[in-house]
Amino acid sequence: MPRRAVIQSIGMAVADKVMTNDDFAKFLDTSNEWIQSRTGILERRIASDEESCSTFAIRAAKQALANADVDPESLDLVAVASVTGDYQFPSTSCIVQDAIGAKRAGAFDIGAACAGFIYGCQLVGSMIESGAIQRALLIGVDVLTKTVDWTDRSTCILFGDGGGAVYMEASNEDRGLISTVLRSDGSGGRHILIALGGSKNPIGAQRSAGCSPYVYMEGREVYRFAVKAMGDSCCSVLQKAGMSVDDVDIFVPHQANERIITAAADRIGLPPEKLFLNVHKYGNMSAGSIPVALYEAQATGRLKKGDVVMTVGFGAGLVWGANLIRW
Ligand code: UT7
Repeated sequence: MPRRAVIQSIGMAVADKVMTNDDFAKFLDTSNEWIQSRTGILERRIASDEESCSTFAIRAAKQALANADVDPESLDLVAVASVTGDYQFPSTSCIVQDAIGAKRAGAFDIGAACAGFIYGCQLVGSMIESGAIQRALLIGVDVLTKTVDWTDRSTCILFGDGGGAVYMEASNEDRGLISTVLRSDGSGGRHILIALGGSKNPIGAQRSAGCSPYVYMEGREVYRFAVKAMGDSCCSVLQKAGMSVDDVDIFVPHQANERIITAAADRIGLPPEKLFLNVHKYGNMSAGSIPVALYEAQATGRLKKGDVVMTVGFGAGLVWGANLIRW
């Protein structure tokens, strides 16, 4: 039996503060009707001033470890997929590693925006399958509400804060990663970005026109890209595994927009009952959305041990990809 990378447990953490669509209508020219009909979002969680990326990463990590009854000192790796880390450096994974007491673990962050958890599963899974490591925590988490312009109605209504963690280990069981597809197209980078604060446009430099500290997004462009990218990567990941949509028990996509998700599901011919959605409760939590959705799918009995789950994500880069996992 080949060595597999198996997800043994999962944890999640979101901000406590709930913000409804009507709350936005109090200070923006928007409405519950517009937000709900265009995105499917009813409410989202907003981090407090004291909360940051590591707040949710640490909470989710501790829960995942407790659920598998794993000693943090036995971990070889802590990996955090996020584009809203606590600092430019050090990495958020080092903050988590210290907070959970993973004294012998390596730690690094993964920057693949909303596809971060998809990339992370492949990266950490391959490290386990190759024998380089035995036990790892992979965390997908983002706090994008700290980066939005609260006067920009086309972006600030979309995001929410939180994430989830999976504990993965080497196993001979017939479970784990089945296949993965990772893709990118840097020519579309301008469609969704934060221009200020990196080495190209440092915070200290004078801001040039169009160089904003906030999330900038061309919604329609991202929408068009997302539907195609999700559909194509799902078809590719199934083809790679020699499987079809009929073999998928549950589809857990990046929760950015209900319309994007249902359009992509239609494109691949997925029956609606196989689709897991929770975007209405949390909005778009970027790298946090897939692990939180996996957690809730499992907690509600929709995702069971042995099921084939298809996950797919897309985001700034542009990057996208899909994983097929036997849970
Ligand atoms: O993880 C990746 C992250 N990004 C995404 O997933 C975003 C993908 N894109 C989308 O989800 C959609 O493009 C949005 C939800 C962002 C926007 O929906 P849309 O149907 O593409 O609207 P639009 O940008 O074409 O705007 C239509 C109208 C515009 O008004 P005019 O120019 O037609 O008068 C906007 O100004 O809707 C207006 N609008 C709003 N109206 C009320 C934009 N935002 C709002 C708002 N409330 N919050």
